Amino acid sequence: MRKPLMMLLLALCAHACGLVDKKPVYRIAFSQCVGDDAWRQTMLEEMRRELSFYPDVEFIYRDANNSSDRQIQQLHELLGMEPDLIIVSPNEAEPLTPVVDEIFRSEIPVIVTDRKTSSGLYHAYVGADNYEVGYLAGQYLANKLHGKGVISEVTGLPGSSAAIERQKGFHAALKPFPNVVLHEQINGQWLIGEAKRQAAQRVDALAASDAIFAYNDQMALGTYEALQEAIPDNDIKIVGVDALPGDRNGLQFVADRMLDASMLYPTGGKECIQTAMAILQDRPYQRENILGSVVVDSTNVKLMKLQADKIIDQQADIDKQQQLFVEQQRIFSDQQRVLNILVVSLVLAIVFAGISFYSLKANWDKNKQLEHQNQEILGQQQRILEMTKAVEGATEAKINFFTNISHEFKTPLSLMIVPIEELLGNGKLPESTHRSLRLIKKNALILQHLVSQLIDLRRVGYEKLQLKAKEGNVTLFCSQVVQAFRPLAQRKSINFRLESDLRQALLWFDEDLMEKLLYNLLSNAFKFTPAEGEIVLRLRELHAKPNEIEIQVIDTGEGIADADIVHLFEPFYQGENHVRGTGIGLSLCKEITALHHGRITVQSQQGQGTTATVTLPRGHRHLQTEEKATTQPTTGSAIGPRETATHLSLLTHEMETGEPMPMAVNPADGSPVKEHSILIVEDHPDMRQFLAEKMSAHFTVYTAAHARAGFDMAHEQLPDLIISDVLMPGELGTALAEKLKADIRTATIPIILLTARGTDEQVATGLSVLADAYVTKPFNVDHLIAQVNNLLENRKLLHRHYSCDVAEFQPASTLSVVDRRFLNELAALIEENIANSEMNVDYLCERLALSRIQLYRKVKSLLDCSVNDYITARRLRKAAVMLQQGEAINSVAYQTGFSSPAYFSTAFKNKYGMSPSLFKKNVVAAGNT
Ligand code: FRU
Repeated sequence: MRKPLMMLLLALCAHACGLVDKKPVYRIAFSQCVGDDAWRQTMLEEMRRELSFYPDVEFIYRDANNSSDRQIQQLHELLGMEPDLIIVSPNEAEPLTPVVDEIFRSEIPVIVTDRKTSSGLYHAYVGADNYEVGYLAGQYLANKLHGKGVISEVTGLPGSSAAIERQKGFHAALKPFPNVVLHEQINGQWLIGEAKRQAAQRVDALAASDAIFAYNDQMALGTYEALQEAIPDNDIKIVGVDALPGDRNGLQFVADRMLDASMLYPTGGKECIQTAMAILQDRPYQRENILGSVVVDSTNVKLMKLQADKIIDQQADIDKQQQLFVEQQRIFSDQQRVLNILVVSLVLAIVFAGISFYSLKANWDKNKQLEHQNQEILGQQQRILEMTKAVEGATEAKINFFTNISHEFKTPLSLMIVPIEELLGNGKLPESTHRSLRLIKKNALILQHLVSQLIDLRRVGYEKLQLKAKEGNVTLFCSQVVQAFRPLAQRKSINFRLESDLRQALLWFDEDLMEKLLYNLLSNAFKFTPAEGEIVLRLRELHAKPNEIEIQVIDTGEGIADADIVHLFEPFYQGENHVRGTGIGLSLCKEITALHHGRITVQSQQGQGTTATVTLPRGHRHLQTEEKATTQPTTGSAIGPRETATHLSLLTHEMETGEPMPMAVNPADGSPVKEHSILIVEDHPDMRQFLAEKMSAHFTVYTAAHARAGFDMAHEQLPDLIISDVLMPGELGTALAEKLKADIRTATIPIILLTARGTDEQVATGLSVLADAYVTKPFNVDHLIAQVNNLLENRKLLHRHYSCDVAEFQPASTLSVVDRRFLNELAALIEENIANSEMNVDYLCERLALSRIQLYRKVKSLLDCSVNDYITARRLRKAAVMLQQGEAINSVAYQTGFSSPAYFSTAFKNKYGMSPSLFKKNVVAAGNT
C-alpha cells in the first residue's frame, strides 16, 4: 500500500517540477537541395517563423549541399525516422523521382516545393510557376529590344525542373519575335561563382549579345561582374530571377542598375508549413499552391523595395513578438511549474499530515495499550514479589526443616557407623555378612556427608556465615589438596597435576572454606572423568587483570549439556549428567566464592571436558575487618576438616565401587542353572549388586547398567522377567518397558518397574506403558521376590490356558494384545498350510520374521510346548474333525499334511489313544445312537 503511494507522489513531484519530457505532437522533416544561398535561407526563416506558431511540432532539417546523391541518401534516412510529413525541394528532377515516389507510396504525406520531380507524385506542391517566370522574362526582354536583337542565356542546373521550365517559358515568349536571336548559352549551376567563371571564359560570345537572361539573380550578378571586368561600361541588359530583398540580392541589384530587371520568385516557406499543418491536422488544403510572380525593374523597384523593407520590418516585429511570446511562455511555464510544485507540496503536506495524524493516533493508542500493559505488569510484578516472598518463606522453612532434620540425623548416623565399624573388625563373621556391613557403612557415610553438606549450605548461603580470611600461600595450599587426591588419581589412572604460573602466591582466603570449595570441584571432576583422562588444578593470573587470580579445575570428562550449565549453581538442581548428584556441592561452591568476593563460572563441551573457574581478588582491601581472621590460630571453622576427610574417603570408596558391576551370579560361570531367569536393569551399582545378590538365590540373574544395555540383554537372553529402575541417565525405565512391550519378541516378558518415584501419577505412567507391576523404593526384598514369583506363576497359568492341546485352546483375557495377535497369526498360518507336509519351523520363522530360537521361546513361553508339537497338534485336531465328517482316512491323512497314512495312524493313535479307523467307527456309532 505504501509503495504505490510513494510512486504516485514521486510521479506528481516529477510532473510538477517539469522533469517529465513533453512529446511532440508532430514531426515534420524538410529535405533542402542546397541551403547556403540567401534565397534558401529566406525560405528556411519563413518556415521557422511559421512553425513558431506550432510549438508541438518537431522540425527535422537536412541540407543536401547541391548533391542529388546526398539528397537521395538523406531522404532514405528521413523515411526510416518515420516522421509525420516530409517536405522536399528536389535538387534534380530525374534522380530524385524514385525516392520521392517511395515516400509518397509509404503513406507519409510529402510536399514538393520550388523544384519538382518528373513523376509529379506528391500530396501538395508549393512554389511559383517557373514556365511563367521564364515567359515573363522573355516578354520583358523582347519588349526592351523592341522585337530585335541578340540574347544569350545563363541557365541553372540542367536537370532541375526550375531550369527546364524557365527555359521552356522563355523560349515560348520569344517565339513571336523572329528578329530576336538566341545566341550563347552557358550553364551557371544556379551559383554566382560558377556563372562568373563561365561568363569570363565566354566573354567574347556574351559581349556580342544585346541582352542576357540569367535564370537567377545570383548568376545574373556573376555574369554582370565578369562582363564589367572584361568590358567596362558595356550596355548589355541583364535580367535575373528571384527579386529577393536584402543587400546582395536581386532587388538591390535592380535598384543599383546592375540588373535591368528581376522576375519575383517567392520562396513559399510560410505556405509550405501552412499546407503541411493543414494536411497533418486533417484540414482542407490545396494540392497545387502556385505563388504569383511579377517583373521588378526600374519602374517599380522602389515600391517593391519599400514593400520588402516594410515586410522585413514587420517580420522583425513578428520575430520580436515571437521572442516576447517565447519569453512569456517561459515565464508562464516557470510560474506554472512553481504553481504545480506548490499544489503538489500542498497535497503532500496534506497527505503527510494525514499520515502523521494517523501515526500519532496509532502511537497514542499504542501508548495507552502500553500503559495498560505496564499497569498489568506492575500488578504482576507485585504479585510475583509477594509470591517470591512466600516461596522464600517456604524455602526458608524447608531449609530449616532440612537443617534441623539433618542435625537430628547426625547422632543416629554416628551411632550406626561406630557399631558397624566394630562389627567389621570381627574376623569371625562370614564374608557375605562383611559385604553387607560394608554396604551399610558406605551408605551411612554417604548420608552423613549429605547431611554435612546440607548444613554447610545452610550456614554459608542462608545464615551468611562470616568469612575468616587470612593471608596465605595459595599455591602451597593447593598442592596439599592435590596430594590428598593423588591416591584416587592413581587408582583411577587419571593424569592429575597442579599447574601454577603465579608470580605472587599470597592471597587472602578462608582455608576451611577454600578446602571445601576445591574438594567439591575436584570430586566432581573425578566423578565424571574416565580412566586415562586428565584433571588439572591450575592457578594463573591474567595480564589484563593483575588484581585477580584464577583457580581452575580442568577435566577431560564427559562434559555437561548446555541446558544444564545455566542451572549448575542452583541448589538441588539435577541435570542429565548429574542425575545422581544432590545439587548441593556446586551451590555451596558458589556461596563460598561469593563470601570471598569472587566469581565462579563453568565452561563445558560435551564429550570434551569441563573447566570450572574461580576468580578471586588479591589483597585485602575488599574485605571488611570482620571478614578477616584474628591472628590467633583458627579454632576450626564451621566446616571441620573431619568432614572433608570423610568426603574424600567416601569419594574414593564410591569411585572404587562405582564401576559397572560384573554379573552377580553369571549363568555361564558354572553355578547351577535355575528354572527361571530374570534381568535387572539398574544404574546404581550398589543397588544393582544388592538386587542381584538377593535374586540370585532363586533365579538366574542378568544385569544391565542402563536402559539401552537392558534392551539388548532382553533380546539376547529372553529372560522370564525383567526388573527395571525408572530414573536412569539416558533412557528412562518406562521408555524401555514401552519398547519391550511393543516388540513381539519380548512382549510376553513381565516387567516390574522399580523406583523412588512414588506418586499416583508416576505409578499410572508406569502402568500405562504395560509394566506388569510397579514397586516403589524403599521396598522389602521378600515382597519383591514374592511379586516376581507371582508374576511367573501367572505366566504358568497362562501356559495352561494356551496349552498345545488346541481342542482346549481358549483366548485368555489376561493375555496382552500383542501376544494374542501373535497366537492368532501363528494359528492362521498353520491352518493356511495344513495340507502342506513341507510346512515346518523354518517356514514359520520366515513368514513370521522371527529367528528359530525366538519362535521357540515365544511358543514355549505362551503355549508351553515346542513349535513342531504345536503344528502336529493342529494337524491332528483338523484330522479328527474331518474324520467326524466321514471323510476317508487316506484322504484325511494327505489333507492334513501327513506324508503317509501310516505315519498319520501312529501320530493319531498317540494323541487320541485309538487308530483313525476305530475313531471313525466310534464316532459313526455315537452318531447313530
Ligand atoms: C536558389 C535558387 C534560386 C532559384 C531557385 C530555383 O537555390 O537557385 O535562386 O530561383 O533556386 O530552384
